[in-house]
Order: sequence, then C-alpha cells, then structure tokens
Amino acid sequence: MDKSLQIVITGASGFVAKNLRKFLSEKNVQLISISRKNFKSFKNETKIISKNYDQKSILPKIKNSDAIIHLIGIGKESVKTDYESINVQLTQKIVNLSKKAKIKKFVYTSGLGVSDVTSIGYFISKLKAEKSVIDSKLNYTIFRPSYIVGKDDLFTKYLKKSIKKNKIVIPGSGEFSIQPIYIEDVTKLIFQSIIDKKFNNKTLDLVGPEIISFEKYIQLFIQNKKIKLHHIDIEDAYHLAINDSKFDYGVDDLNILVGNFVGDHKKLRNLSQMNFKSVKELLKTGALL
Ligand SMILES: NC(=O)c1ccc[n+]([C@@H]2O[C@H](COP(=O)([O-])OP(=O)(O)OC[C@H]3O[C@@H](n4cnc5c(N)ncnc54)[C@H](OP(=O)(O)O)[C@@H]3O)[C@@H](O)[C@H]2O)c1
Repeated sequence: MDKSLQIVITGASGFVAKNLRKFLSEKNVQLISISRKNFKSFKNETKIISKNYDQKSILPKIKNSDAIIHLIGIGKESVKTDYESINVQLTQKIVNLSKKAKIKKFVYTSGLGVSDVTSIGYFISKLKAEKSVIDSKLNYTIFRPSYIVGKDDLFTKYLKKSIKKNKIVIPGSGEFSIQPIYIEDVTKLIFQSIIDKKFNNKTLDLVGPEIISFEKYIQLFIQNKKIKLHHIDIEDAYHLAINDSKFDYGVDDLNILVGNFVGDHKKLRNLSQMNFKSVKELLKTGALL
C-alpha cells in the first residue's frame, strides 16, 4: 500500500520537510516536492522549483495525489515578508490548488498556542490558515507543534553556534514551559495521519511527553560544557528584538516563550499508540549535538 502513495510537500527545503522527505522516500512513497530553490532529491522524488506556486506549473503535476503536506510558514516578519502573505494567503492558494487537483488529504502544521482568543499576530495568521484548511472541506489533519527538535532545526543550530561563541542568551528568568517533540516522532506521526483514518479532520497538539523549562532544556543541551549563560532582562530582550533583526530572538520567539504554551500529549499518544522519544534522554546522550 505504501508503494502506491503519492504525496506532495510544500516548502521542501525547510527543516521538517527535509527530514520528512527522507523518511517518506525510505517508505517508498512517490514524492512531489516543491521549493522556491533547487535542492538535492531523494529516491522516488519529483522536484518542482517554483517561486510563487503558480497554478500553471504545479497543478498538472500534483493531480489526484493521495495527500499534500503544507510546510510553508514563517515565524518572523520583515519589510520583505509578512504573516498575512505567507501564512494566510499562500496557504489559501495551496488549499485552492489542492481542491482543483482533487488531492485526498491536507496536512498542515500550525502552531502550539493558536486559539480563538489569541492576540498575537503570528497565531492569528496560523488560525486563519487553519480555517481555510477546515473550510475547504478537504479531509485534513492540523498539527499544532511545540518546538520540533532534531540535529538541524533552527534552535539547535542557534545553540551549537552559541556554544562555539561561549555565550548563550537566555531571556528573562528562563523559566518558560516548553514541550519539545523529536523530529523522528513528528515524521512518523505525519505519515500516520495520512494512512490512518483516526486522524481525519482532527486538530492535534504536536507535543512531546515532557514539559520542561527553557533554561533546563539549554542546560541539558550543553551537557557539562562550561558555557556562559547570559540572562538578559525580559524588557531589554523585547527592546532588542523590536529594534535589531540580528538579535538572538525575534519578538514572536519571545511571545511564544512568555506564553508558556503546553499541549495535550495524552490525546496524541492515545490516538497514535506510538512510543515517543524522551527529548530529555536525547539531550543527555548528546544525540542532538
Ligand atoms: N520547527 C518547529 O519547531 C515548528 C514549531 C511550530 C510550527 N512550525 C511550523 O511548521 C512548518 C515547518 O517548520 P520548519 O521548522 O520546517 O520551518 P522552516 O525550516 O523555516 O521551513 C519553512 C519553509 O517555508 C518556505 N517558505 C518560507 N518563506 C516562504 C515564502 N516567502 N514563500 C514561499 N515559501 C516560503 C521555505 O521553503 P523553501 O525554502 O523550500 O521554498 C522554508 O524552507 C512551518 O509552517 C512552521 O511555522 C514549526
């Protein structure tokens, strides 16, 4: 059954996409991967390079696919790129394309903390994107991830770079709750959501089995290395985030930390019947270094 599956992936060069494409390729899924830039393809993979995901170049190639996994998203705005155009409008465009192409399943990665009462622009854009997926009447699974961690995610890369510089910046108290989930569990779950009907038309928190503080996570990451943890007052952190795009954290990175978002791991475990990796154990063994 796996052999005959044809799955489309958007944002193919991103962190989740790269890991997922490798996993699905090893499962003999026929992949159609779309990115703005060229990339190295895996076995059974068709590449589409498209800057603006225009219908003409994409629609004929993705027709009647079994699923689309929409992994395009931004978590920081700039003059050049904003939430409305990427998280909202581009998602709506991909939803429309998927309907026209008669794709059977839509998987979307939103964000942990998205809710009807949120006041954060990032979460509002993800909520609007979720709504366009749900309103499409396509069969969907929406995941709301906490930090997805692996060897090559943005935060891990930041920590590795900071270790080299012997300075890790921690905003405020560092006592923010996070519920990280390992990338290999994420790729398995996304695949399961496509082949297992129990995931149909559900919105699920994509969270790991442990809730830990942000600072504790960093301490476990650096193991016994003597690295300077530089606590910076939260007001100063926001000031720098607002005024300096090169600062270690963006405004919404800080909002997400201060928001202390945790989710329903039990629901995910019960539905998937999966054994999740302990991120704490992975950190202790240096598996993410
Ligand atoms: N990683 C996490 O911890 C986490 C947590 C919560 C939510 N999420 C969500 O999960 C999804 C995947 O996350 P990720 O960590 O893999 O993100 P990522 O590495 O930043 O990848 C996102 C991809 O989106 C595409 N993209 C960005 N700006 C674009 C633009 N202007 N036009 C078209 N495509 C654009 C890019 O694909 P190409 O370069 O291939 O064109 C990029 O590689 C995102 O929606 C993210 O918001 C992730």
